[in-house]
Amino acid sequence: MDNRLKQELTAWLEFYRELGIEDFYRRKPGSGGIHSATAPMTSTAAAPRPAASEAAKPAPSAPTPAPTIMAAAVTNVPVTLVPPTSAQALNLFEAPPPPRRATETLEEIRTDLGDCQRCKLAKTRKHIVFGEGNPHAAVVFIGEGPGADEDEQGRPFVGRAGQLLNRMLQAVGLKREEVYICNVVKCRPPGNRPPEKDEVEACSPFLFRQVAAIKPRLICCLGAPAMRTVLGVKEGITRVRGRFFDYGDAKAIVAFHPAYVLRNPREEKILREDFEKIRDFLKTSG
Ligand code: URA
Repeated sequence: MDNRLKQELTAWLEFYRELGIEDFYRRKPGSGGIHSATAPMTSTAAAPRPAASEAAKPAPSAPTPAPTIMAAAVTNVPVTLVPPTSAQALNLFEAPPPPRRATETLEEIRTDLGDCQRCKLAKTRKHIVFGEGNPHAAVVFIGEGPGADEDEQGRPFVGRAGQLLNRMLQAVGLKREEVYICNVVKCRPPGNRPPEKDEVEACSPFLFRQVAAIKPRLICCLGAPAMRTVLGVKEGITRVRGRFFDYGDAKAIVAFHPAYVLRNPREEKILREDFEKIRDFLKTSG
């Protein structure tokens, strides 16, 4: 391998290690599936390890095809580690794009996103919903994807689910403008269907870059799609909600999606409890 390529690869691997990601899979040229795992990075010192209670479960780094999009440094559930960005970008045997350091700003990431045409959602969206809030927020809330109101206004969580989110924030003494709010996909899936795998693959690298730029102390995954994309957790959300996970240097918590709570109002109490956990964490971890 020539030196320049080696340097590029090293820079990439360091970048992903900063995000807490240490295992990569390579797509077999010409095939749709994930083919094999490269060797993990040389140093695994920074890699969070499963908690003792999970130690007996299968190791997450086995090179099996991984159905989820990405998993970061979760320590207390079994996870499957797969690339954090599109398979094409992580096919390390094609020329990778230049590494993007975690020091880039949200503005730079937005500029890079541009008038995104990376997936089919571009054809039906009205507005890209990049995310909004404090660029140095201690907590980032991640939903699934824009709905009709968000698509109309280009802002996340402004419809009914957003109003419930606002109420929850207010209930625990958080101001909407002091947190950061975004989604797994930045364009509305038609008819509010769940985002499809290729759409999540195309869009989630921007989410991870946003999180890396903000460097929050806590990430809150609102609903199962955010939980699966960010944490790689495949357990049912009812079992996982309210639990804290390690996420690199930060923590992550899973909560019900406000839209789910609107459909199941009895769950509002549980959502509120999880927001109280968020408040308590922010008070004690600062
Ligand atoms: N639901 C989401 O997941 N995100 C939004 O922005 C709005 C509703």
